[in-house]
Order: sequence, then C-alpha cells, then structure tokens
Amino acid sequence: SLCFENALQNASGGRPPTPLGARILTNPEDIFQHNMWDHVQWTEEAKEEARQKTNENSSSRIPSEEQGKYDTDACKYWDSFYERHQDRFFKDRKWLFLEFPELLPSGPGGRATEERDSFPGEHAPFRILEVGCGAGNSVFPIVNSIKHTGAFVYCCDFSSRAVQLVKDHPDYDQSLCHAFVQDICDEVASFPFPPLSLDVILLVFVLSSIHPERVQGVVNRLSEFLKPGGIFLFRDHGRYDLSQLRFKKGRCLSDNFYTRGDGTCVYFFTKDEVHSLFSNAGLEEIQNLEDRRIQVNRAKKIVMYRVWMQSKYRKTLPAPS
Ligand SMILES: C[S@@+](CC[C@H](N)C(=O)[O-])C[C@H]1O[C@@H](n2cnc3c(N)ncnc32)[C@H](O)[C@@H]1O
Repeated sequence: SLCFENALQNASGGRPPTPLGARILTNPEDIFQHNMWDHVQWTEEAKEEARQKTNENSSSRIPSEEQGKYDTDACKYWDSFYERHQDRFFKDRKWLFLEFPELLPSGPGGRATEERDSFPGEHAPFRILEVGCGAGNSVFPIVNSIKHTGAFVYCCDFSSRAVQLVKDHPDYDQSLCHAFVQDICDEVASFPFPPLSLDVILLVFVLSSIHPERVQGVVNRLSEFLKPGGIFLFRDHGRYDLSQLRFKKGRCLSDNFYTRGDGTCVYFFTKDEVHSLFSNAGLEEIQNLEDRRIQVNRAKKIVMYRVWMQSKYRKTLPAPS
C-alpha cells in the first residue's frame, strides 16, 4: 500500500515519521488500542448510515436568494476566520513529505545563478505553488525542507490576513518564498510567474472551499502554469467524511456542499469527481485514492469514519518527435 511504502521510504529516507501510517485493524477487538486505523473498508451498515445522514442534512437547502453571499463574500468570511483564529486553527501538515515526496526536488541542489531575478524565483530550478495557503501550515514545512536545494515556493490566498500571517512568520524568507494575495476564482488573476513555469502545484483543503461550479475553471487555469511533466498534489475532504455527516439541517447549499456557522464553505469529493476535474484539464493520473480511516476516541469509546481524497495528476510531456 501507499502508506506502507511511504513508511518504508521513511525508514531509509530520513523523512519525518508519519503520524498516520500503515496501521491496519485486523482484529475488531483491538479497535480501542489506537487512535487511528488506516485503509478501512466500510461495512454496508456504515455506508447506509452515511447516506441517510447526508440525505437528511441536505433535505432542506438554503434558499437560492440567500446563497449568493457565500460565493461573493467568501473572501470576507475567510478573512474574519483568520482575524479570529490567527495561525492557531490548522496544525502543520506533518504528513506532507511522506505522502508527497514530489515536493522535494530530485535534481542537483544549489541556486542556478546569481543573476538578478525579474520575478521572484526566476532562476530557481524547481518551483512550487501552494494555492489557498492560509496561515502557512504547509508552506513552512516546505520552506524549511528546501533550504539549499535551489527550490522556490510561491503561495497565495485570497485572505489578505492569511497572507500577512505568512509574511510575519519567523521562517518567512524572501530568498525561498513569495506570498501574495490572489483569488484563484478570478478569471483574470495575475500571478508573479509566467505560464509553464511550475514543477508542483499543491492544493491542500482548498478546492473544497470553492463553489463546485467554479472548481473546474480554477484547475484549468492553474494547469497553464505547470511545466510539461509538472504535477498537481491534491488532498481534500472525501464524500461521507464524518465532518459531512455532522452538518445539521439548514446548512446545505447544493449537493454535498455546505456552509459552516462562520460562512466558510465546504464540499465533499468522490474519487470519480476528482478524476474528472483533473483529466478534463488534460492531466494524467498518477494517483487517485480515497484515504479511509477509523479515528477512535478511546476515552469516550467513539468510533469515527474519516474520508480524505489524495491525488496526483501530471501534465503530460510532449510526445517525442
Ligand atoms: C481550509 S483552509 C486550508 C489552508 C491551508 N491550505 C492548510 O492546509 O492549512 C482553505 C484556504 O483556502 C483559501 N481560499 C478559499 N477560496 C480561495 C480562493 N478563491 N482563492 C484563494 N484562496 C482561497 C482560504 O482563505 C483558506 O485559507
């Protein structure tokens, strides 16, 4: 399995240990022995319960005349989110390099040249963009791992407060990183790098916060910036995750798309939807998996089914002539 391979890779590659590894539940009686179990098959009963809960919480929709604000004011809701929580809400994404070793350049290290850049990161041999970077919970683990490799990280968010948190972080280093404010739904968005210039685009829990009708356009536009052979790394909420089932009635905007009490929105993807999204943009599947786990609250003896999507899609190289 992928996680198992990664755990093995970790043993030899000196990468940080995975908190979520290859822990497989073989004896149901062991369930309360650990906090998390990997690669879980759902029972028919669990699937049926998930369907029922989702049907129930989607049975009444927010009226269409009230829906517009969640889309047009999305940036304001996220800005208030960061005003309230600062950088305290999300934890650093410690699993990043285990699941996405593509984030680390494989070529020779060092800066290509000391010439002045006409755009930040111009002379970097390897360029990463994180979209919807929030307070930098992925950015800083990356920045701290690419020192001396010659790689450069761009990151953007439409919340100017989020971008300010990134810029104020003690590890923010302009020779390695460039944070900027950008709404990726904006069809005429401008980016500080040219088309065909990125090796990796990282999408961590960001496409789920965008209106499902806009997501395809976002992926299409972003893919213009990948070099041939460049790759999208995607991790996000999966259909019937516990957090979907926990929505109360009255929060549903459209199928599998909800708004939280603070006005931010969340969509829950299936594997097929993720596949269409990236293949419609002309990308090739490297990985598309549903990461199903059981999370256990040992004190309260509660068992929770968690579902995340994890995918990698590559821009194909031109055919050799
Ligand atoms: C759930 S947070 C994830 C943050 C970060 N990727 C992480 O893993 O901690 C989603 C982020 O996407 C940003 N976002 C949502 N829609 C966006 C858009 N249209 N353009 C740019 N950023 C957006 C939000 O401001 C928020 O910071």
